[in-house]
Amino acid sequence: MPCNRPPFKSSAPAKIILLGEHAVVYGMPAIAAPIQSLRAYACAQPSDTPLSIRSLEFEKSVAIGSPASDDSLRPLQQLLQIASSYFGMRKPTGDLVIRSDIPVAGGLGSGAAVSAAAIRALAALFGRSVSNEDLNQLVFEMERIHHGTPSGIDNTVVVYERPVYFQRGKDLELLTVKRPCHIVIADTGRATMTREAVSRVRQRYEQRQSATEEVFVSIGQVASNARGALESGKLGQLGALMSENHRLLRQLGISSPELDELVDASIAAGAMGAKLSGGGMGGNMIALVDGSTVPAVRRALRQAGAARVVDFVLSLGPVYS
Ligand code: PMV
Repeated sequence: MPCNRPPFKSSAPAKIILLGEHAVVYGMPAIAAPIQSLRAYACAQPSDTPLSIRSLEFEKSVAIGSPASDDSLRPLQQLLQIASSYFGMRKPTGDLVIRSDIPVAGGLGSGAAVSAAAIRALAALFGRSVSNEDLNQLVFEMERIHHGTPSGIDNTVVVYERPVYFQRGKDLELLTVKRPCHIVIADTGRATMTREAVSRVRQRYEQRQSATEEVFVSIGQVASNARGALESGKLGQLGALMSENHRLLRQLGISSPELDELVDASIAAGAMGAKLSGGGMGGNMIALVDGSTVPAVRRALRQAGAARVVDFVLSLGPVYS
């Protein structure tokens, strides 16, 4: 939670999509989970000047209502506008600083995490509160600006900070993870724009509708079966379903040689299953690993060319209780 005295600080986690990306845009279920140890941070301070936002990564800042010096600042400005209008602030003042440890354009939900952390910090600055439900909607609006046609899964998992079983238009279902899952994440080092990956799948869908729909349905089935495996702690089965999901994503044409190589390397080193995660065409892959195999899989991924490797344990625990 953001604290109630300045500076008003807040944070939000990165996320992985465990199963079901892309098909989720077409109404299939998907499973996503937060990475609590990898986060975006926001810090708001009162001031007498019009509300501004400064990104420490981009080393740039912009104030609400002033001309943006370049296009990359526009979404940040829209973030200030969306939040200020939600909180009913007609002439908002203050300084907001954002910083993120989450790689940008890597399929780990950095945009959603920055938006969630920033809006929570602004709520504290303005002396207002925001429910998770409303925050989810506000972050979704920001996701629309970033991605065009988001399914809503990124904002949901980042705001609620719990593993979720998500299906567009259905009530949110928080998942119970029976046994902790060790996940190793490897970055191909190739930045990927979710918008591009989603439009590549859209083109495929328009050209070969029924074959593509079949793949979506299979992915949805895999996600639904994986839910049972997670909830009953059948990690071997979960791993096999992840690998099956990767095979289906390859059929959609959004894997890449780097992703395939990392997936293969992790399996050869003993992972129970592996797949690309997020938009694909680059970005990150994930492997489900038995705890004792984590070092071997990490090493294998490095040797196979991963630009960055992190691991974390997926378990139930909510951060804010
Ligand atoms: O690349 P990311 O982390 O934004 O994940 C995108 C997931 C997709 O299913 C490809 C798109 C979506 O909106 O669900």
